[in-house]
Amino acid sequence: MTVMSSPSAAAVTGSASDAATALGEARERTLAMVTPVSDEDLERVHSTLMSPLVWDLGHIAAFEDLWLVHRYGQRRLLRADLLEVYDALETPRSGRGELPFLGPAAAREYLDEVRSRTLEVIDQRGVGDGLLHELVLRHEHQHSETMLQTLQLAQLDGYELPGQQAVPDGPEDPPSGLELVEIAAGECTLGAPPNGAPAEPPWTGFAYDNERPRHHTDVRAFRIGRTPITNATYLNFVEGGGYQRREWWSAEGWAWKEEYDITRPGGWTADHRGERRLGSLEPLHPHRPVVHVSWFEADAFARSRGARLPTESEWEKAATWDQEEGAARAYPWGSEPPVPGVHANVDQLAPGPAPAGAYPAGASPYGCLGMIGDVWEWTASDFTAYPGFRPHPYKEYSEPFFEAGYRVLRGGSWATRSRVVTPTFRNWDHPQRRQIFSGFRVAE
Ligand code: AVJ
Ligand code: FE
Repeated sequence: MTVMSSPSAAAVTGSASDAATALGEARERTLAMVTPVSDEDLERVHSTLMSPLVWDLGHIAAFEDLWLVHRYGQRRLLRADLLEVYDALETPRSGRGELPFLGPAAAREYLDEVRSRTLEVIDQRGVGDGLLHELVLRHEHQHSETMLQTLQLAQLDGYELPGQQAVPDGPEDPPSGLELVEIAAGECTLGAPPNGAPAEPPWTGFAYDNERPRHHTDVRAFRIGRTPITNATYLNFVEGGGYQRREWWSAEGWAWKEEYDITRPGGWTADHRGERRLGSLEPLHPHRPVVHVSWFEADAFARSRGARLPTESEWEKAATWDQEEGAARAYPWGSEPPVPGVHANVDQLAPGPAPAGAYPAGASPYGCLGMIGDVWEWTASDFTAYPGFRPHPYKEYSEPFFEAGYRVLRGGSWATRSRVVTPTFRNWDHPQRRQIFSGFRVAE
């Protein structure tokens, strides 16, 4: 493996007005998402895997206060007293219900006041190289997905996303997820481009530290699912004894399944006919990707088919490598960022995944569909640093999570904002988790 350059920051959100507009749009979305939610439900612990929604609101404000008001703007923190309450590493999610966090009205006020200061600083000093503004913007975007996970678990009847839309029906000949695409052995480029790469599309110039440095590697020949595994295909596994056949499960996975009596994906009804999509219970759609499965379940399914999960290198190669050009694309379909509803179901377009194969315009050079959006895809890989990794711009984003038993997920979900999700973005979670909008595709 050859390291091409050292990781570092790069110019991002071009102008001050671009940054202010993007920050404003993120905030509108955050607030609209919680508008239909009662104060009680904002403060409630809906799941010990998640923070109370109102904690996320205060945490978004505290992160912005720290990075844009204090560090960038060189002003005093608006609320130094709150930094600890909203420090994610200080208190794990399971303990956040006990924290003295701000109530709904005070949290909204905190968001507003911090934002006014951010905009004052932008007026006075611009955004510099834009890096910190991009970081804070993407932080709010990421928390909007976290909050949707909480809302999905909360099962608030009748809850609807602001501006939610219908998705296409999908192809007439619906994919099962079992059709595989051949990818010949050979080199490819993985990871985000280095500092100094063009800041105009396709590259925004921003990437998280864990996506760098960009490097070449060789990947052996493999086959990978053209689409994620669908509900119908997963239902066959469930009804074919998938959760009873010990030989399909890892020891760890079996122990987890037994302890928590797991018999179906999170969100499915006991009769396997219905599926939760935010505020509604819908008939299980056979051709949509299965969602809310753990890594253990994805792994067991793959084994039941004599297959396995793709490594993250395989996943990224299948998503971006253009064999004819001998270069990686910024997105599977080319250099244009995702247009929701054209290339992918992202940006909270719909309250769950669209049918597999619904966006033919989103195909990768190898013909893989649905790599971006709909469901996060579990990979076989542990979350580790790329060779030459350097923490940037703050240590706590990735480093504490390396080599700690997390598995990598790729590609984003319907709840991921298009700005955040690129084929080099690496998400991570514990193998038993399924609050995340997680599905998978198989490989051989
Ligand atoms: C990248 C989604 C795993 O939620 O822990 C939010 C994103 N980092 N605030 C997380 C994040 C700091 C992170 N994930
Ligand atoms: Fe955070």
